[in-house]
Amino acid sequence: MSLTDELALLQTQTLGAIEASQSVAELEAVRIAVLGKQGTLTGYLRSMGQVAPEMRAEVGKTVNTVRVVIEEALASAKQTLEAKELSERMLASSVDISMPGRAQQIGTRHLINRISDEISEIFLGLGYRVAQGPEVETDYYNFTALNAPEDHPSRGMQDTFYVKDLSGDKSGVRGESDVLLRTQTSGVQVHVMEGQQPPIYIVAPGKVYRRDVADPSHLPQFTQMEGLAIDKGLTFGDLKGTLDYFCKAMFGPDRKTRFRAHYFPFTEPSAEVDVSCGICHGEGCRFCKGTGWLEILGCGMVDPNVLRMSGIDPEEYSGFAFGVGIERVACLKYNVPDLRMLLDGDMRFLRQF
Ligand code: DAH
Repeated sequence: MSLTDELALLQTQTLGAIEASQSVAELEAVRIAVLGKQGTLTGYLRSMGQVAPEMRAEVGKTVNTVRVVIEEALASAKQTLEAKELSERMLASSVDISMPGRAQQIGTRHLINRISDEISEIFLGLGYRVAQGPEVETDYYNFTALNAPEDHPSRGMQDTFYVKDLSGDKSGVRGESDVLLRTQTSGVQVHVMEGQQPPIYIVAPGKVYRRDVADPSHLPQFTQMEGLAIDKGLTFGDLKGTLDYFCKAMFGPDRKTRFRAHYFPFTEPSAEVDVSCGICHGEGCRFCKGTGWLEILGCGMVDPNVLRMSGIDPEEYSGFAFGVGIERVACLKYNVPDLRMLLDGDMRFLRQF
């Protein structure tokens, strides 16, 4: 067989072996056998010295052509086999490494919690501390100790959820259970006064419950912040100054406050506080129903009866209390027209805050 024929045969055999290769590893074995240091084609290149000088150019050219053909066949087969092996690996593995990652949803604090903390911070800055009380209360702390004894008409101001007595007694309606879901955070005042003598300066945030149907301005469960200050010589002037300071810190220094006489059983005198409307600045608009004012809290001087019932001498001490709806403050601060929007869990809405 002539040298040219040998080379042609080598090329054919190598191309056949390349085509028969089932894996990148098999293909690599073919490459080493032909083009490696000890490879067959490399052998021909090495032995060029023994070829007759007049044949050298011709043979050299042929060897080179065969090398190029084999190298190209190797490269293209390698590409195909690599793609095949990748897809086999992906099929075999339960983790799809080609799937794009899923971005983590980063949560934020809920607006209600944020406003609650903001209010607490304002009062912490005035030397108050944060107190807490139970959400499942007894009738005594929610009403009686707050100067609203059994059958007092003021109990009708707040429709109450009564809790079934676990001892097996009939449940549900007033008169048959002394246990209830607190309708106001005011009961925390009583717990605090029972546990310590003045001076007392506390705020108490927490959930409260009422038998109301949810509408733009009512929720059956909402959040309040109670405030209580008891000390020697506290007056209505202290109450006004404190709450005016609070409103300006919360809503901005340009907002005005006004105090309207009101009734609460546990304070005397009592008042409701309005803050000037942030949208129309007192001109009157739809948000403030044309009045220029938005009601934000109830307050008053603690009734001497309440102090006495909790073991504090009203001859020696006086004080004031207030209760503010946190959802309401949130809505007024951000001009949200409907309390229910706070609880819908719609991320498009909540993310704005
Ligand atoms: N507890 C009242 C309510 O839920 C709000 C309130 C009014 C709290 C006057 C007070 C207060 O401490 O002094 O409607």
